[in-house]
Amino acid sequence: MASVRRELSEVRRLNRDATVDLGFALELEKRRSQELEEAYYDTVLRLTRASAYKDRETGAHIQRVSHYAKVIARHLGWSGDDQELIFRAAPMHDVGKIAIPDDLIRKAGSLDGGDRKVMESHTMIGSSLLEGSNSRLLNMARDIALTHHEHWDGSGYPHRLVGEQIPIAGRIVMLSDCYDALRSRRSYKRAFDHDATCRVILEGDGRTLPSHFDPRLLELFRQAHFEFETIFEQFKDVS
Ligand SMILES: [Fe+2]
Ligand SMILES: [Fe+2]
Repeated sequence: MASVRRELSEVRRLNRDATVDLGFALELEKRRSQELEEAYYDTVLRLTRASAYKDRETGAHIQRVSHYAKVIARHLGWSGDDQELIFRAAPMHDVGKIAIPDDLIRKAGSLDGGDRKVMESHTMIGSSLLEGSNSRLLNMARDIALTHHEHWDGSGYPHRLVGEQIPIAGRIVMLSDCYDALRSRRSYKRAFDHDATCRVILEGDGRTLPSHFDPRLLELFRQAHFEFETIFEQFKDVS
């Protein structure tokens, strides 16, 4: 009887040790995957910085797009982690421009024909740079790079996706990028103030149309547009 009791207590001790080991292993695994995500993020920031050397768009633009995207995600009720994910993934939207010839990127005025096609290929190039990873961050970044010029009504590029065929992260960054582009000076347009930008997004101006945007995001923008203005003022370009 005593030996059975001894064996039982030995089994219990082994079980306890196994539970402790398992807990430790899970904790270690979690820490490793966090470290891996941080390493991805770090690498990706460097890639973004490299592409910013070519692009006329500034670091401040990239920061602002991240903040607008996070605001939209928050209003959509995303978890804190997912808000942070889109905040980190959004800066990579134009990373494919790294492969576009400099003279095309710096060309004044709007592009036509073959030039436009080459410029539009930054979406596919960005996607192929970012795809094939297990990282949630890189997967979201890949969706964004590929679809941030698609339009809800199917008039965008590269695949003329329609409505919910476009990943939500792409729809969010498309609205964010568009607000910021309207607020900024371009070779073919002056910079609009906040009110004019809201009018263009909500009512259209012939070039930008309300039908380009996910109606749910458009409604959300109507409610929260002042938060976009605050971000624009807070992260101004230094000239
Ligand atoms: Fe783009
Ligand atoms: Fe952009």
